[in-house]
Amino acid sequence: MLGNFTYHNPTKLYFGKDAVDSLKGELKNYGDNVLLVYGGGSIKKNGIYDRISAILKECGKNVAEVAGVMPNPTSDKLKEGVKIAKDHKTDFILAVGGGSVCDYSKAVSVSVHCDDDPWDKYFVSFEEPSCEIVPVGCVLTMAGTGSEMNGGSVITNHEAKLKIGHVFGDEVMPKFSILDPVYTMTLPKYQMCAGIYDIMNHICEQYFSGEDDNTSDHISEGLMRSLIVSSRAAVKDPQDYEARSNIMWTATWALNTLISRGKTTDWMVHMLGQAVGAYTDATHGMTLAAVSLPYYRYIMPYGLKKFARFAVNVWGVSAQGKSDEQLAREGLDAMESWMKEMGLVMNISELGANADMIEGIADATLILSGGYKQLDRSEVVDILKASL
Ligand code: NZQ
Ligand code: ZN
Repeated sequence: MLGNFTYHNPTKLYFGKDAVDSLKGELKNYGDNVLLVYGGGSIKKNGIYDRISAILKECGKNVAEVAGVMPNPTSDKLKEGVKIAKDHKTDFILAVGGGSVCDYSKAVSVSVHCDDDPWDKYFVSFEEPSCEIVPVGCVLTMAGTGSEMNGGSVITNHEAKLKIGHVFGDEVMPKFSILDPVYTMTLPKYQMCAGIYDIMNHICEQYFSGEDDNTSDHISEGLMRSLIVSSRAAVKDPQDYEARSNIMWTATWALNTLISRGKTTDWMVHMLGQAVGAYTDATHGMTLAAVSLPYYRYIMPYGLKKFARFAVNVWGVSAQGKSDEQLAREGLDAMESWMKEMGLVMNISELGANADMIEGIADATLILSGGYKQLDRSEVVDILKASL
């Protein structure tokens, strides 16, 4: 039975080739002082920066920039961006990049008019914004996080060795996002595949909870089947527009608040992966891939029916003559083969973690209770050791 819920997603999407043509019309809705936020330079190499700059100029905007937003954006970088945004009297933030740039822009948006330390307020104390929020729009260049249509913002504090996400409400979600699959075609294969696994895991995190028959789970299975097909096609030919557009659209639906409706949701792979990320600064999707199988194989007995269903409905495993346990195992084996086909990182050692870090990573892992088994700290340690 579906529990009670509210569903409202205010982000407007423009999807497809040359979707950036819609930017001009959108910019008319906001003030003149624009903060352009981007990453380490990919948008300068592939021409996106020039196109966006020309549109901003045509609209007569007064532009300041925050460049060099790194993957896994830091609390120090956040402070720098907040200062630039304040000095510029920013009316509107335009994020051009992947999840890191979008997440970072949201964090700046809730901090410009706030005197507290943003790390302490939002990522340690999980407070909600109590000040004016600067509107954000996104031009997405990497498919994976879903940040283009959600309120999530993940910030890393290297000093504290913590990587923490805050899921803000509707008022912080992007006002609009521009999704042109062609923009994702310059991604290195490593990043493309990390994004693909991020999408798969977002769906799993929501799917592997609850035992009721829930429309959200049926949607999730369809999204996962679509992702399996399109990811295989994209790995074979990264310039395959059909595949890249399906991946981009699946990423958005995987984490835009829809498939979690009526569900408790798990999110432990992300908690483990984020803690690994805090210690290694590794690529987000790869941290998830590296801990997933030890985690899922450990919790499988506690959610056996759902894992058996996953095998049949997502991976096409034949159910004939098999017990739930056998099916569940074969489903995870099928996922493992697909992960290897994608060239994903399958252990945390490869990401720079080692046995001496395990206790610290376990301390940095937030333990949640929405999945099939609430872990205790020693189980977290065991899963991390099995991921080495
Ligand atoms: O910085 P540049 O030079 O732009 O290069 C980036 C970066 O090195 C590159 N890239 C992006 N688009 C490109 C491109 N290179 C060539 N061509 C393009 N079109 O890719 C690298 C990775 O980019 P990044 O934005 O870091 O990747 P992603 O989109 O995976 O974002 C990761 C961040 O999002 C957080 C993660 O924790 C991580 O900090 N997440 C946000 C979530 C949310 N908002 O809901 C949920 C996720 O679970 C995730 O935690
Ligand atoms: Zn993720």
